[in-house]
Formats: sequence, C-alpha cells, structure tokens
Amino acid sequence: MENRPLEYDYTVAKLFMFTTIVLGIVGMLVGVILAFQLAFPEVNLLLGEGLAEYTNFSRLRPLHTDAVIFGFTVSGIFATWYYIGQRVLKVSMAESPLLMALGKLQFTLYVVTVAAVVVSLLAGVTTSKEYAEFEWPIDIAIVVVWVLWGINIFGLIGIRREKSLYISVWYYIATFLGVAMLYLFNNMAVPTYFASGGIGDWYHSVSMYAGTNDALVQWWYGHNAVAFGFTVPIVAMIYYFLPKESGQAVYSYKLSLLSFWGLMFVYLWAGGHHLLFSTVPDWMQTMGSVFSVVLILPSWGSAINMLLTMKGEWQQVASSPLIKFMILASTFYMFSTLEGPIQAIKSVNAIAHFTDWIVGHVHDGVLGWVVFMIMASLFHMAPRVFKREIYSKSMMNTQFWIQTLGVILYFTSMWIAGITQGMMWRAHDEFGNLAYSFIDTVTVLHPYYTIRAIGGLLYLIGFFMFAYNIYKTMTVGRRVEENELQTASPMGA
Ligand code: HEM
Ligand code: HEM
Repeated sequence: MENRPLEYDYTVAKLFMFTTIVLGIVGMLVGVILAFQLAFPEVNLLLGEGLAEYTNFSRLRPLHTDAVIFGFTVSGIFATWYYIGQRVLKVSMAESPLLMALGKLQFTLYVVTVAAVVVSLLAGVTTSKEYAEFEWPIDIAIVVVWVLWGINIFGLIGIRREKSLYISVWYYIATFLGVAMLYLFNNMAVPTYFASGGIGDWYHSVSMYAGTNDALVQWWYGHNAVAFGFTVPIVAMIYYFLPKESGQAVYSYKLSLLSFWGLMFVYLWAGGHHLLFSTVPDWMQTMGSVFSVVLILPSWGSAINMLLTMKGEWQQVASSPLIKFMILASTFYMFSTLEGPIQAIKSVNAIAHFTDWIVGHVHDGVLGWVVFMIMASLFHMAPRVFKREIYSKSMMNTQFWIQTLGVILYFTSMWIAGITQGMMWRAHDEFGNLAYSFIDTVTVLHPYYTIRAIGGLLYLIGFFMFAYNIYKTMTVGRRVEENELQTASPMGA
C-alpha cells in the first residue's frame, strides 16, 4: 500500500491545457493580423468598413497583448501548476474534494472573465494603461480567480507528504505573491459612477494615482509583469520539466536558490528603465538602469543552471525534439536578458525607446523563451495526463524549425527596423533641423514590417501544428502507461 504510486488527478490541469492552446491561437492570430496591419494598412478594414471599429489596430492591439499574457501564459502557468504541484508535493487533488471543487470554480470563473475581457476590449472599454486595460469589475473577477489559485497552492502544500519544497514550488509561490501585489497596487482606481454621483458609464474609473506617480506605478507593474509572468513561473516549469525529461539532476540546487533570491530582490527596482528621459526623478531613472544591468547576474544564473543540467548529455538535444524546445528556450532567455540590460543603458535607450527594437526584444523573449517553454511543458505533460504517446515526433521536429525560423525573422527584422528608426529620428542638419519627417521612416520600414509579418505567420503555423499534435495525441495516440514513459528521474515524482 505504502509503495503504491499515487494516482494524480489531472482534471483541472487538462482544463487549463485546453485554454492555453485556444487562447494561444487567438492571441497569436491577432498578433499576426496586427503585424500585417502595420505592413499593409488596408488590413485594418479586413471585415469591411462597417466593422472597422472592431478590426482596427488600436482595438486589436490590447486584445493581442492581453490574450497572450492573461490568456495563454496565465493558463499555461495554471495548467503546469495543477500538474507539477501534485507531483512534487506527493499529494493528489483527488484527496481533497474541497480543493478540487475550488479548482473547477477557478477555471469556470476564469473562462467567464476571459469572455468579459474579449467583449469589453473589442467594445473599446479600457483604462488605457498597458497590460492593465481592464475596468474594475473585471479586475475584481481576476483577483478572485487569483485567490482561488492561491488557496490551491497553499492548500496542497498544507496536505503534502513530501516535506521539502522543490525549487519550482518556490517559484510558483513567488508568482502568486508577486502578481497579487503588483496587480492590486497598479489597478487601484476610483469608479467615476460613485465619484460623480452617477454620471457616466457604470464601469468607468480613473486611476488613483496622477501624472508621474501613475507612470511610476504603471511601469513598476509593467516591468514586474515580465518578472512574475514571463520569467519566474517559466523558470519554475523548466526546473521541473528539464530534469524530468532528460533524466539529469538540476546542475546546482544552490545556484537555483541564489538566482531565486537575486531575481526577487533585483527585479523590483528595475522598472524605471521604462521611463528614462521622462519626468520621473533622475535618480530613479539611474537606479532603474543600474538594477537592470545587475539583473543579468540572477537571470544568467538560472539560465546557465538550466544549460549545465544537460552536461554530459548534449546528444539528447539532437535526439529529442522536446529537449530541443527547452534548450532553445533557455538560450533565448539568456539572449533577451542580455539584450534588456543593454537597452536599459541610458545612451542606448535614447536610440531604442519608442522604436521597433523594443518590440523585437519583447518577442525574442516571449516567442523564444515563454511560448517555447510552455509548449515543451504541455508536450511533456500530454502523454502522462492522457496516457497516450505523442502522436508525431517528426511533426514536433518540423514545428521546432518552422517556429525557430519565425522567431529569427521576427526579431532580426525588428532590430534593423528599430535601429534605423532611432537613427533617422535623431538625424539633423547643421542648423538643428530634423533630417527626416516621420513618414520617411515609415516608408523605409515597410520591408521589415513585411518580414516580421511573415515570421509571425510561420510561428503561428507552428503553433497550429502543436495544437494538432496534442489533439491527435489525445484522440488517437498509442495508449501508454506512465512507467513506460518515465525517464530515470532524479526527483522521484
Ligand atoms: C534582465 C532582464 C531584462 C531587462 C533588464 C529588460 C529591460 C527592458 C528595457 C530597457 C525595455 C525597454 C523600455 C523602453 O525603453 O520602453 C524592455 C521592454 C520590455 N521587455 Fe524587457 N528586459 C529584460 C528581460 C525581458 C524578458 C525575459 C522579457 C519577456 C520574456 C521582456 C519583456 C519586455 C516587454 C514586454 C517590454 C515592453 C514593455 C512595453 O513597452 O510595453 N523583458 N525591457
Ligand atoms: C505569432 C506571434 C506573434 C505576432 C506576429 C505578434 C505581433 C505583435 C505586433 C504586431 C505587436 C504590435 C507592435 C507595435 O505596436 O508596434 C505586438 C505587441 C506585443 N506582443 Fe506580440 N506577437 C506575437 C506573439 C506574442 C506572444 C506569444 C506574446 C506574449 C506571450 C506577445 C506579447 C506582446 C507584447 C507584450 C506586445 C507589446 C509590446 C510593446 O508594447 O513594446 N506577442 N505583437
């Protein structure tokens, strides 16, 4: 009895795997449309002039960012938690009907909230703060979804059999606490309905902060959304899935803890790099720059730890498509965490800010690191939760190369576009007159925008292949038991 393996319950994990894939498709499809709109403005009217209000760039852009962040990425975080949590804590969700019921409630409320987000953004309802566009009724729903998730994390920890908390659990806890703090502070708002005695739309609100303070809180939030949305939970995933998939122990547990505390301490002070040369006090801007450069250390600490985990086993990168996904992800993580600090240096930021180089940085981080790692996680989970072998490994390989090409086209075109833009904006003659008008830059950038759109399209095609492969795995994949799949695991779970 004691030695019988635990039967984990993946009901909630499967539900969130489903939304990860669906919202990934929605978010990236909208991203591709945006990319084509920037290259060919007529695409703004893709459903005709009558519907232009809903299909123009400004309505679709927040839909893209929010679908990929709050939809795809957050679903991926939930899905992997509901898988990893049980396994590293050695406890099944089935053992607690309460946690199970709350998990399902969390999913239901999450889906309702996502629907409300899509409708409200398409209708043009927005607070106009980037990545924090939702009005207060939606914010409240998001807080409830988050709290339900927190109950599950601490509930499972409370009833665990495994005494020590594996490093991934630390990272999930930090994700929960970090996002909770950031989200609550940045979204503090006063509903105008109550403030103005009932005038205006009932859901409308104004930020509780004004002017420069608002900008500071917003970018403290925005930058740390990268920390606690795109970094910390993704590191949690790789620290679990890479050792499991490769059969290798994490290279250095000490280094993982050191970089954990490094990330926690340094990230929170770096947000000022979004506000260089603005009205924010100069010392804050300098602090933002300095902390950004220091951030290379804990970021590379994690990344090197991941890469060294493969020490002596590099042949697996060639033989296993899944390991390829994870190694490419950690390489892109290193890449974007070197690029970010460079862009945070004041003199570099003077050229990079407002240009496409920033958009390039964003997408080498998210496409190369975040999406690759989430897809790898789902690929690892699928055979174990559906008890079926991955439908096609060769399709995985093809997908890998198509998407890698997609990311490369995306970020290289944006680098060239961004630096060209930055240099043209600042060029002037000997009397100080600007050498170029804005439209000159737009004309020069057109080819690069087209290349980016093609890169994005390739990436989306790869994502469809991923969705198809998982669907086929679920439905017709060869039946397989977990013990047939298990690599010699250093972690037991
Ligand atoms: C050491 C780590 C990093 C540093 C120091 C850093 C630094 C920066 C800097 C300086 C900017 C440009 C600010 C501006 O001039 O507008 C920026 C923008 C951005 N970065 Fe990073 N970055 C890092 C890692 C990452 C990673 C890993 C990702 C994603 C996976 C990411 C996502 C973003 C996003 C989404 C923005 C755009 C924000 C916006 O303007 O809307 N960053 N980052
Ligand atoms: C097929 C893949 C994708 C394509 C073609 C794409 C395309 C775009 C485009 C055209 C923009 C607007 C850029 C601008 O305003 O100049 C954008 C912005 C953005 N996208 Fe994507 N995207 C894709 C996937 C993703 C994913 C997976 C994520 C996150 C997980 C993401 C996060 C963002 C963010 C944070 C911004 C705002 C950047 C900023 O303000 O600097 N994108 N994307």
